Amino acid sequence: MRHFLSLKDFTKGELLEMITLAQKIKLQTKQRKFVPYMEHQTLGMIFEKSSTRTRVSFETGIYQLGGVGLFLSSNDIQLGRGEPMKDTARVISRMVDMVMIRTFEHTKIEEFAQHSQVPVVNGLTDSYHPVQLMTDYLTILECGIENPIVAYVGDGNNIVHSWLMLAAKLGFDLRIATPKGYECDAAIVAESLEIAKESGATITISNDPKEAVVGANVVTTDTWVSMGQEEEKEVRLKAFDGYIVDKNLMGLAQENAIFLHCLPAYREYEVSEEVFEAHADEIFLEAENRLHAQKGIMVWLDQHRDDTIENENS
Ligand code: CP
Ligand code: NVA
Repeated sequence: MRHFLSLKDFTKGELLEMITLAQKIKLQTKQRKFVPYMEHQTLGMIFEKSSTRTRVSFETGIYQLGGVGLFLSSNDIQLGRGEPMKDTARVISRMVDMVMIRTFEHTKIEEFAQHSQVPVVNGLTDSYHPVQLMTDYLTILECGIENPIVAYVGDGNNIVHSWLMLAAKLGFDLRIATPKGYECDAAIVAESLEIAKESGATITISNDPKEAVVGANVVTTDTWVSMGQEEEKEVRLKAFDGYIVDKNLMGLAQENAIFLHCLPAYREYEVSEEVFEAHADEIFLEAENRLHAQKGIMVWLDQHRDDTIENENS
């Protein structure tokens, strides 16, 4: 049985299999063909943070696959009153077929997975947002970009950590620019550089947005104030001065460069209204693709749930 906690746990081939499945299921969905790949299965969805896209896409996705989603807000389940993660895992995973979790420390989802009898999918932690990055890759392919040169300008957060893992696994060019003091986690950078040696990915990290964006064909960013950092807002807004993706910065990228944003976006902070609206088609295709990419991931995990048993018996 495999959990989907970080992209680093999968080979390039496995990640591409999930993307291929997502493309196939997206096509079927567009033809209004709802193939019951996960008939009668229940997806438990534990949320310790807010969400629009993750909730709607997972709940709709499992329904369209023939199953049902259970929205479990930590405010409403005993987890929020102090029931341990490992007990929550041991109870819920005896009743449902797959679990998606959005939480704070990455160690919490690892603890849940360790005690779970069913596959666990990361719906965002403080360290990673892997389902978002699978979506972004699907969107890049749909935009006709075969050799991505990605520039990420902004906070060294969960989103860019998953960009690091995606680039390292798939072997593309990633340039990151973060302000001083808001760099990526050093251990995650080191791990991705190690993985990149195998794939041939070129990863460059600086404090210079222009250096990152020159010649890129994908430009992306994320909020400067992630969930859980609300108290740091004033300090952060000052530190990120000069990191907005505006027309001038976007002008340094390739002429047909796309702009992606995982959303929610804060206009005139990390991105100008002008750039956002000029690239709205790409951004909202990316948002829709959460539904399709996650179906590919869920079906792949479902199809591989007996892996360990097969391996043990072979
Ligand atoms: N991008 C994303 O994960 O959005 P939500 O926080 O709305 O789920
Ligand atoms: N970095 C953001 C992503 C939101 C989808 C956060 O963690 O709040």
